[in-house]
Amino acid sequence: MRKFDTNKLVRTGAVVAGAVLLGWAAFGIYRWQVRRTQVAANRTELARLGLPGDGTKDFMPLPAILPHSAGAARLGEDLFADKRLARTSRRTCTSCHWLNMGGSDGKIHGRFMTRPIVNAAATTRFLHDGSFTNFTDAAKLMLTDGTYAGGGSLDEIVARLAADSQLVAGFARVYPTGLTGENLLDALEQYGRTLLSAGRPFDRFQGGDDHALDEQAKAGFALFRRKNCLACHQGPVLGGHKVYEDRKVTPLRGIGLRRVFLSDASSTDIATALSRMPSGDREWTAEERAALTAFLKTL
Ligand code: HEC
Ligand code: HEC
Repeated sequence: MRKFDTNKLVRTGAVVAGAVLLGWAAFGIYRWQVRRTQVAANRTELARLGLPGDGTKDFMPLPAILPHSAGAARLGEDLFADKRLARTSRRTCTSCHWLNMGGSDGKIHGRFMTRPIVNAAATTRFLHDGSFTNFTDAAKLMLTDGTYAGGGSLDEIVARLAADSQLVAGFARVYPTGLTGENLLDALEQYGRTLLSAGRPFDRFQGGDDHALDEQAKAGFALFRRKNCLACHQGPVLGGHKVYEDRKVTPLRGIGLRRVFLSDASSTDIATALSRMPSGDREWTAEERAALTAFLKTL
């Protein structure tokens, strides 16, 4: 019979325990690092938007209104529905960006679905692939490209509008440089900054109304935090700052107002959209999926 080597057993045990402890510590450091990056990103984002808050909370209340110039926003609001922006199509921004449905008609124009304009001004990536980093660049594409409003060049659009002396006077009151292409784009953005999904059940819940969410939605909220959705859906509107697999991470704030989901408009219910997330729903129970969906509907 072989002699039982107690020393060897103790040594092996110690090595295994050491390795486990080391792995556990490394994982802890990794998690801490991930968390730190997320907090830093949130803080930068809040500062960029000129909002109070230190970014240490996973969830920031949706600011009722983003900083904006009220005069310019009024000009932008009129422009959003102004048929003169288009050369011949008579399409206006509101033809496709339906504000009662979170800012999208749920239809494909060109190759992608109209992006929800509600809450878009609180994001830093624009279009399906997040390739633009300014609201005004996206607005310029919308104004000039025939797939969208199709107004011709920015100069042509300004020339058309310049025939309206009242509009010219309106711009002169708000902008020292008056009606220019740049100011036109700025006015559209200033109006965009007023389009936030404030007052949704989740906002009321954050404001202290415990009854604004039912038990299922509350369970979904807890799951949302646990399932690491915040790794991509971060910032005050829960998304809009990252690109994943060539797609802008759509803000989840305002999703309760939308009827069609994903940039290829491939889903008409939130549950299907959920199943496309990288985290996947394969390991989720039907109960978890229903809870997450109930929570998302309150946003
Ligand atoms: C014919 C429909 C149509 C019209 C008209 C239209 N849009 Fe869009 N809009 C879209 C589509 C489609 C997208 C998404 C394009 C993409 O993802 O590549 C979009 C995207 C945007 C975005 C980017 C939003 C984001 O979150 O990434 C902004 C901003 C925008 N539009 C503003 C405007 C403004 C301002 C007008 C009026 C001047 C306008 N749009 C007119 C269909 C339209
Ligand atoms: C790795 C990044 C990533 C993670 C993690 C992630 N998402 Fe997303 N999510 C995206 C991207 C990118 C899109 C946009 C996809 C598109 O437009 O085709 C999106 C879109 C969505 C949409 C559809 C929104 C709309 O209006 O079209 C829902 C719902 C959603 N995510 C929920 C979740 C939930 C819940 C979780 C956590 C379980 C989660 N996501 C985790 C990247 C992520």
